[in-house]
Amino acid sequence: QKNRLGLTPQMGWNSWNHFGCKIDEATIQKIADAMVDTGLAKLGYEYINLDDCWAAYNRDSQGNLVANASTFPSGMRALADYMHKKGLKLGVYGDAGLRTCSKLMPGSLGYEDQDARTFAAWGIDYLKYDNCNNQNISPLTRYNRMSEALMNSGRDIFFSLCEWGVDEPATWAGSMANSWRTTEDIKNTWESMTDNIDKSNKWAPYAGPGGWNDPDMLEVGNGGMTTEEYRSHFSIWALVKAPLVLGCDISSMTPETKEILSNQKVIAVNQDKLGVQGLKVQQDEDLEVWAGRLSGDRVALVLWNSGPTEASITASWSNIGLSPSAVVDAHDLWTDEVTSSVQGNLKKTVASHACKMYVLTPK
Ligand code: GLA
Repeated sequence: QKNRLGLTPQMGWNSWNHFGCKIDEATIQKIADAMVDTGLAKLGYEYINLDDCWAAYNRDSQGNLVANASTFPSGMRALADYMHKKGLKLGVYGDAGLRTCSKLMPGSLGYEDQDARTFAAWGIDYLKYDNCNNQNISPLTRYNRMSEALMNSGRDIFFSLCEWGVDEPATWAGSMANSWRTTEDIKNTWESMTDNIDKSNKWAPYAGPGGWNDPDMLEVGNGGMTTEEYRSHFSIWALVKAPLVLGCDISSMTPETKEILSNQKVIAVNQDKLGVQGLKVQQDEDLEVWAGRLSGDRVALVLWNSGPTEASITASWSNIGLSPSAVVDAHDLWTDEVTSSVQGNLKKTVASHACKMYVLTPK
């Protein structure tokens, strides 16, 4: 992307997965407070993003988008100021069509320049741009118009393209957006989570600093999966350089949720400056090996068990980009244990619907 943002995958929070359309100023401020107070902000989570339903049903008499006056009475500029004072950034949601997906607020089709100017004037830092009610106009045309409008707005605004992967955006969005959805909406289940990650896998070659494949936002902490499943969800998102956009109520998260979202070593894999999306490199039915190159000749590795019982998984060097003679230390990012001087392959037992995640460092 021309805006030079997103050199590593974006980190932050979005209202949709937990709150849906039930958002208001007090709730969003509480989330921002929690982001700082829980220490998550210091770990790199910086964007607080409003999803659908933040704006009034209609534009004002000058055709401007305006905040919903009953839920956001202080307005968007005040909310952006609130974020910036805390060292955070504010994102909004819009749509490359006539109305957003909820149909409760206007889309930006035909109003791209005006809306981009409005966002810049408010101090908005991020736009998630959806694909509903799009009049069957080509996505390239619609998304490119907003991309240009943001570029001309005078403000650096991260552009998160939400086109659900229907027109294979990985192949064309790199020049206009900082991330693009590769799948339909995530649901709070193991099946949906794994399905999204599988669908995103084939687009790996298109990801890199400035533009990322987006298998959708995190469900960690929303209660539909077990703690172990959420640990796997977070691990694999980190490995495939997916945006780490939290989707739970971080103002009331459990210690387990906080522990998962705060793992600095896992976050460091996601934020590695090389920006190589990890890939599925081995599969034997439900037992999988995923791996990706990291800076410093290191390799990030995930042993993944989607099956119903505990199983042993072996990753061989030839599949994960290491020479067969390479000797590495394998650092388990969740237990902190180090298996020293491993050569040829790494074999570990993995519980059902769980994973083990390592950084392999050559000796
Ligand atoms: C679409 C998007 C979701 C969310 C909703 C809001 O379904 O894919 O991520 O933004 O719209 O209505």
